[in-house]
Amino acid sequence: MPSKVSCLYVLTVVCWASALWYLSISRPTTSFVGQLTAPARKAVKAPKTNTTTFSNIRTRPLNPHGFDFIINEPKKCETNVPFLVILISTTHKEFDARQAIRETWGDESTFSDLRIITLFLLGRSTDSVLNQMVEQESQIFHDIVVEDFVDSYHNLTLKTLMGMRWVATFCNQAKYVMKTDSDIFVNMDNLVYKLLKPATKPRRRYFTGYVINGSPIRDMRSKWYMPRDLYPESKYPPFCSGTGYVFSADVAELIYKTSLHTRLLHLEDVYVGVCLRKLGIHPYQNSGFNHWKMAYSLCRYRRVITVHQISPEEMHRIWNDMSSKKHLKC
Ligand SMILES: *[C@@H]1O[C@H](CO)[C@@H](O)[C@H](O)[C@H]1NC(C)=O
Ligand SMILES: *[C@@H]1O[C@H](CO)[C@@H](O)[C@H](O)[C@H]1NC(C)=O
Repeated sequence: MPSKVSCLYVLTVVCWASALWYLSISRPTTSFVGQLTAPARKAVKAPKTNTTTFSNIRTRPLNPHGFDFIINEPKKCETNVPFLVILISTTHKEFDARQAIRETWGDESTFSDLRIITLFLLGRSTDSVLNQMVEQESQIFHDIVVEDFVDSYHNLTLKTLMGMRWVATFCNQAKYVMKTDSDIFVNMDNLVYKLLKPATKPRRRYFTGYVINGSPIRDMRSKWYMPRDLYPESKYPPFCSGTGYVFSADVAELIYKTSLHTRLLHLEDVYVGVCLRKLGIHPYQNSGFNHWKMAYSLCRYRRVITVHQISPEEMHRIWNDMSSKKHLKC
């Protein structure tokens, strides 16, 4: 046992040391290292359908999501069905953010009586060194899922859909799912005991978060620019901020299947809202989900479910402070 532990420890240290070294040398993504390595695996595309017949036109998926899992944890759910699956959208370089989450609110052993699964979602990097480092990280922690699409800001929707697909395929007995980002602090006690309430009957067709009733931004300089030809309507359906939303696990399959016939939008939270509207599921507003930054104070953070823009260092500090002051009243 001790040798196994120390071996894992050494592996971890080596992995982080190489991560830090790697991040400390800046280099263009088109360096020769990237070109010399093995070509990316080909994704298995859905078979071409004959579109000349009417029935084929109607059933052919608009958005077939024909990607392979490059890294997967297909058995993570098998023996012990979780109450909650947490899907965290992340990018390759965020090694320290993933580690901070593992060591704080994302620790799967936080609740002794409740099974929680934490999974980090990634696409394929165009930089093969980063892909290899994530592969090594995955062999240590077994909490990473990667599909064979190019990981980029514009492909965030694919990342979310991969998470939905994973739950639908490998974990559809789970009770609830949360999708969040790597710079979010989650107050797990509030999420689990105040919102989801394990002792009560699990909900179905349930979706909640910070609900936004917005309109498309047509200014091309905006991060949230939406071209008129992609989304012509003047209003978005109500959608939950992608910084953190929670739903009953049955919704994962419903959204994934709906997405196959729904034109992709690069804004993942808007897109999930579009799928929910098609499904007739109305997201519930919950003011515990904060999609902006909020200065730390013990009593304030005790009332929230999520807080945005938290660095890995802050994540540790907040976690340590809240854990050590459990006995204090507000
Ligand atoms: C598609 O179906 C039509 C009508 O059945 C047939 O004539 C045509 O050859 C088919 N095309 C292909 C590529 O299979
Ligand atoms: C998204 O992923 C697909 C599949 O890998 C790729 O063809 C496309 O270029 C990516 N889009 C962006 C904007 O990176």
